[in-house]
Amino acid sequence: MSVQVAPSVLASDFANIQREIEMLNASEADYIHVDIMDGVFVPNISFGIPVTEAIHRHAKKPLDVHLMIVDPDRYLEAFQKAGAHIISVHLEACNHLHRTLQAIKGLGCKAGVAINPHTPVHLLEDIIHDIDLVCVMSVNPGFGAQKFIEHTYEKVSQLKSLIYKRGTSTLIEIDGGVNLKNAPLLIAEGADILVAGNFVFSAADPIQTIHELKGL
Ligand code: DX5
Ligand code: ZN
Repeated sequence: MSVQVAPSVLASDFANIQREIEMLNASEADYIHVDIMDGVFVPNISFGIPVTEAIHRHAKKPLDVHLMIVDPDRYLEAFQKAGAHIISVHLEACNHLHRTLQAIKGLGCKAGVAINPHTPVHLLEDIIHDIDLVCVMSVNPGFGAQKFIEHTYEKVSQLKSLIYKRGTSTLIEIDGGVNLKNAPLLIAEGADILVAGNFVFSAADPIQTIHELKGL
C-alpha cells in the first residue's frame, strides 16, 4: 500500500476554508489533519470545535484530529460529535493514557497517541497494543512550517521494531516539517501516514504536491 497523506489545514486559508476542503476532496489525500491547540499545552491557539464541525460539513475525507491540549478527556466527545474519525492525544498530556484511549474507542473513533520530540519511544511499550496510531512529532508542536528534526528517523525505526515485536497493527504517522526530501527515508523506516501542512498549502499546485507525496 502506498503511503497515506494527511494535509494539515492549519496551513490553509481560514477565510476560504470551504474552498480549501473542496481542494482536498478533489486530491488524493487520505485524511484531513486538524490541529487543535489550546495555548496551554502548546504556546499557540489554533481553532476549536465549531471550526472542526465546519471542516467536517464540507469534507469527503476522514478527519484526523490532533489534540494539542491539556486534559483532553474533557473534549473527546465534543470532537467525536464534530466529526473526528481519528482522535490523537499527547502522551505528555495524559495521566491515565489507557483510560483515555478506551474512552476514544468507546466513542467509535480510532485512538491515536502523539509523542513530542523529547519523548522516548520506549514509554509506549506497555500501551502499544491499545494504540491504533502513533503520531511521531518531528517538530515541537505549536506551529506549522518549522524545520524537521532529523532524530525522527531513528524514532520511527525504533517504533517500527516495537510494533513488529508486539505484533500490533499500529500505524505510524509523522507530523511536522514533512516534505518530498525527507519523506522517502521516513517511509523506508516505516512511516504509514505523512502529515504535511506548509509543504502542501504553500505549493503552487497543492493537488500535484499531494500526488507527488502519494507516489513515493
Ligand atoms: C504542529 C502541528 C502540525 C503542523 C504541520 O504543531 O501538529 O500538524 O500543522 O505543519 P507543517 O507540515 O507545516 O510542519
Ligand atoms: Zn498535527
